[in-house]
Amino acid sequence: MVARVSGVELVEVDEPELRPGEALVETTVVGVCGSDTHAAAGEHPFVPLPYRPGHEVVGAVRAVAADVTAVGVGDRVTVEPTLPCGNCKMCRTGRSNICENLRFFGCGYEQGGMAERFTVPAGRLHRLPDAMSDLQAALIEPLSTPVHAVRLAGGVRDKTVVVLGAGTIGLLVLRAAQHGGARRTVVTDPLPQKRERALAMGAGAVYDATRPDLVEAVRAELGESADVVFDCVSVQSTVDQAVRLASKGGIVMVVGVPVRPVSVALPELQDLQVRLQGSATYMPEDYDASIEMIMSGWVSPDDFVTGRFPLEEAAAAFAASVSGSHLKVTISPGLAR
Ligand SMILES: NC(=O)c1ccc[n+]([C@@H]2O[C@H](COP(=O)([O-])OP(=O)(O)OC[C@H]3O[C@@H](n4cnc5c(N)ncnc54)[C@H](O)[C@@H]3O)[C@@H](O)[C@H]2O)c1
Ligand SMILES: [Zn+2]
Ligand SMILES: [Zn+2]
Repeated sequence: MVARVSGVELVEVDEPELRPGEALVETTVVGVCGSDTHAAAGEHPFVPLPYRPGHEVVGAVRAVAADVTAVGVGDRVTVEPTLPCGNCKMCRTGRSNICENLRFFGCGYEQGGMAERFTVPAGRLHRLPDAMSDLQAALIEPLSTPVHAVRLAGGVRDKTVVVLGAGTIGLLVLRAAQHGGARRTVVTDPLPQKRERALAMGAGAVYDATRPDLVEAVRAELGESADVVFDCVSVQSTVDQAVRLASKGGIVMVVGVPVRPVSVALPELQDLQVRLQGSATYMPEDYDASIEMIMSGWVSPDDFVTGRFPLEEAAAAFAASVSGSHLKVTISPGLAR
């Protein structure tokens, strides 16, 4: 993997003013996400540069506006970074993750969680169980994306599942699919170290994504077509593989953020009755399910957090994140070096 992250810079800004409905949070841990590194490389379709990163945030509430009752000073919290309007059709029909007026804390929003302190609408904070560590809590946001994708796929109980891409999201999809009762799982990645991690996490089989006969090999491994393919990369080759793996009658979940246009084999999609489904972030219930999964030990920072950096070394954290040898890299303002 080529490290394509360029200008990551620490800048001093004024402490944000607490507005009605908001809480002031002091950051303890914040994850670096594939979306952050894409954005920093100028490749995120919806995040113009410069931007203030950090949406996988854990911290402690330091102040609340007078009208806030949902959280109080001292509460340990994580942010659900989607900022829906609450009024549009999507918000009114239980799909606030795709709100018509959606803003996203840490992704093109005026603030992000890679600051020492930030303000955010208090309604977007989830209180953490006392027994949950900050590092465990840093996995809630990333895990919620796979939990949502599995739910949108209609669940995976007794189904054959293929996960394309064994990065943080792909491996969390694997854990969520296992938790959801998948009958058989296969994971692909071009990097041997990622495939080894997938095997260590109990994948039924792993395959080099660059194999020219990948689709035939995985179908032979499964002994049939895939019921659900989670594309956690979303480039031309993975979308082509996904459709062919899901034929006939399967589901392709598009989880990876495509950084450039990708075409879909529409004749196959139609004739072989493949369902193509985008999956965008999560809903509060996905956060609740993630918290349970992490508390039960099903998803552990020991398996996922491979690098921890102090805030002063944010640029090194971004570089590590795209190096290919890490999974989840986190930044902690208070971390001693
Ligand atoms: N849908 C959502 O709401 C949502 C939320 C968070 C992240 N994402 C996206 O999910 C994707 C994965 O995120 P991540 O944090 O795991 O990134 P990551 O960089 O950690 O993982 C990507 C993995 O894909 C592998 N890969 C590259 N090319 C491949 C190919 N052709 N076939 C198979 N594997 C390949 C890489 O080796 C790497 O292991 C990103 O596009 C990210 O933006 C989507
Ligand atoms: Zn993220
Ligand atoms: Zn809305």
